[in-house]
Amino acid sequence: MVQRYVMSIDQGTTSTRCILFDARGRLVSVVQREHHQHFPRPGWVEHDATEIWRNVTRIVPDALAQAGVGAGQVVGLGIANQRETTVLWDRRTGAPVSRAIVWQDTRTDQMIEYLSREPAAKRVRELCGLPLTTYFSAPKIRWLLQSTPGLQERAERGEVLFGTIESWLIWNLTGGLHVTDVTNASRTMLMNLRTLSWDNELLEFFDIPRAMLPEIRSSTEVYGTTTTVVPGIRIAAALGDQQAALFGQTCFAPGEAKCTYGTGSFLLLNTGQNLVLSKHGMLTTVGFKIGDEPAVYALEGSIAVTGSLVQWFRDGLELISSAPEIETLARTVEDNGGCYIVPAFSGLFAPHWHSEARGVIAGLTSYITKGHLARAVLEATGWQTREVVDAMNADSGLALSTLKVDGGMTADNLLMQFIADVLDVPVVRPMVAETVSLGAAYAAGLSVGYWPDLEGLRRNWHRAGQWLPAMAPSRRDTEYAQWRQAVELTFGWMR
Ligand code: G3P
Repeated sequence: MVQRYVMSIDQGTTSTRCILFDARGRLVSVVQREHHQHFPRPGWVEHDATEIWRNVTRIVPDALAQAGVGAGQVVGLGIANQRETTVLWDRRTGAPVSRAIVWQDTRTDQMIEYLSREPAAKRVRELCGLPLTTYFSAPKIRWLLQSTPGLQERAERGEVLFGTIESWLIWNLTGGLHVTDVTNASRTMLMNLRTLSWDNELLEFFDIPRAMLPEIRSSTEVYGTTTTVVPGIRIAAALGDQQAALFGQTCFAPGEAKCTYGTGSFLLLNTGQNLVLSKHGMLTTVGFKIGDEPAVYALEGSIAVTGSLVQWFRDGLELISSAPEIETLARTVEDNGGCYIVPAFSGLFAPHWHSEARGVIAGLTSYITKGHLARAVLEATGWQTREVVDAMNADSGLALSTLKVDGGMTADNLLMQFIADVLDVPVVRPMVAETVSLGAAYAAGLSVGYWPDLEGLRRNWHRAGQWLPAMAPSRRDTEYAQWRQAVELTFGWMR
C-alpha cells in the first residue's frame, strides 16, 4: 500500500522548516533554512519576503527528496508562521514593495503614542482583543503606507496587497490566492474578534483600505492547491505558529495551556468559545477554528525576548559560541550572584506592554562572572513566564496546575527546572518537540480526513520529560521581588 504523509511548513522568525509527518505524528523528514535578519536602525527588524519565499521553494522539494516521497503521497500541507510580521506586495508583479516589518520592530512607537490619545483608542481592545502597541500588523501597515508616496492610493485601488507570512506563502504557492486564516487575522488589530471579519471601525482608526486585505478563512479547510514549487498539493490548514503549537500540544479543551520557548515565548490558554477580555495584560486571540465550527478563543501571554536573549549573549556579547553552551556556563556557578537581566529589547510585552521600556542588567558587582550572567539570561525567561502565569491565573480565576512546554529552549534542563521552581508547578515536555510543525500538520490532516478527529490526535501525545518544583518558597519570593524591582527600572529608561 502506498504510504501517505502530511507536510508542514513552519515559517518562523529566524528560519523556515518543512517537515513530513506520518499517521502516528512521527517525523519522516526535516529540512530547514535560515533567512537574514536586517536591523537597519535601533529597534527596526526586517525580513526579505522574497528570500523567505525562495527558501520555501528549496525546502519543500528537499523534504520530499529526503524521505523519498512523491507529491502524490502528500495528503495536505499545513502552514504555520511567525505571526504579525507584515508584507505588502504588488498584486500585478507579486513583488514585495519593501522589506517585511517583523513583529519585534518598534519603529511605530511614536505613532502608537499619538494614536493612543485619540478618543477611539479606547475601543480598540474591546473590538480586537489586543492592546495598542507596536507588536501587531496594523501600525506596521500604516507606517508602510505613510512612508512611501502613492502607496496609500495604490492600496485603495487594490493594487498593493497586505498579508502576514502565511498569506504571502499561499499567494505564491497558488499563483495568486489572497487569503489568511482567522488566527493570523486576529493578530492584525483589524479583525473583529466576535464577527471574525475585518472591522470598519478599526480600518478607519488605522486608515487602512479594505481593498488590500486578504479574505479571512478558517484554520482548517482546503484553501487551494499548489501550482508552483511542487504542484498538486492541497493547502489544507494555516495557523499562526503559537496557535499551531497549541494545536500540536493537543490543548483542545478549555483550561489547557502551553508555552512555546523560541525567539520569544508565548503562553496560550484555551478558553473555548468564551471570549475573555483580559484585565491583566493578556491578549485575547483566536486559538483555532476548525472548518465551519465556532472559533475557539485563547488568552495569550506574549514574551518578546527569550531565545533571542541567548542569541544576543552568543552573537552580541560573544560569551558562548553555541546556544546550548549557555547551560554549561550557567552551571559553573551556584546562583545568579544577585544579577538580573531584563531583556526589554522591543519594549516589554505581556503583562506590561511598555513599548518605550529598554533592557537593564541590574545588581552588577565585581563578583559577577560570565557564569552569573549566563544564569541571569536563562532566569529572565523563567521570571517572565512567572509574570505571565500570574496574570493568566488572575484573568481566568484558575490556577495553572501543569505547564506543557515546547520549542528549542526546552532542551535546556537547567532552564526547565528553573521554570518549574519559579512557577511552583510541574513542567512537562512532549515527545515531539516540533509542536508548531506538528500542529500545522495535525490541522491539515484533520482538514482532509487523514486523522478522523481530535481524540485521535490526543492519542499521539506522549510525555518525554517532566520537571518538578524544588525551590524553597522563601527563596522564590525574595528573588521574584528582586526581579520585579529590575523590571521597574526598564520603564523610566530614556531612549
Ligand atoms: O508573535 C510572534 C511569534 O509568532 C513568533 O514566533 O517562533 O517565529 O519566534 P517565532
